[in-house]
Amino acid sequence: MEKSLILVKPDGVDRGLTGTILSRLEGLGLKLTAIKMLKVEKELAEKHYAVHRDKPFFNDLVYYITSSPIVAAVFEGSDAVSRIRKACGATDPAQAEKGTIRGDFGLDIGRNTIHASDSPETGSAEVETFFKPEDICDYSRIT
Ligand code: RTP
Ligand code: MG
Repeated sequence: MEKSLILVKPDGVDRGLTGTILSRLEGLGLKLTAIKMLKVEKELAEKHYAVHRDKPFFNDLVYYITSSPIVAAVFEGSDAVSRIRKACGATDPAQAEKGTIRGDFGLDIGRNTIHASDSPETGSAEVETFFKPEDICDYSRIT
């Protein structure tokens, strides 16, 4: 089953939006299979954002995601990646439609409230970056 890693970024946790965001994703009928709160270490941040290593905003990205605790979670389901990306909205909250997580809660392109995997392959790899296999729980999701 397709997996997506989501991160409620510091601005989401700090403003008490974790439950609201997870609720929206649960409301899609997707199965929550792992969850934890953590303060991301620099090494983990650099691994997670390795694809952006050469971008001018890389250092800001690493600084921000390590600045305050986040909530990491795994959602599984059919088309989980694309359905979650749609629920998140555009990267820049100023461009994101109302009704999407970033459109409703994002502050700016850095503090855009949520990370979500961008392909099924990335989803599997990102889940492995943040969770051990034994952290993933299986059960029947009743829709
Ligand atoms: P994410 O990885 O966080 O789910 O976001 P995304 O796929 O929509 O965007 P991506 O291109 O992967 O960028 C990762 C994060 O980098 C920040 N960003 N800043 N200053 C800029 O031009 C810029 N562009 C991207 C955003 O916080 C984005 O979520
Ligand atoms: Mg991305």
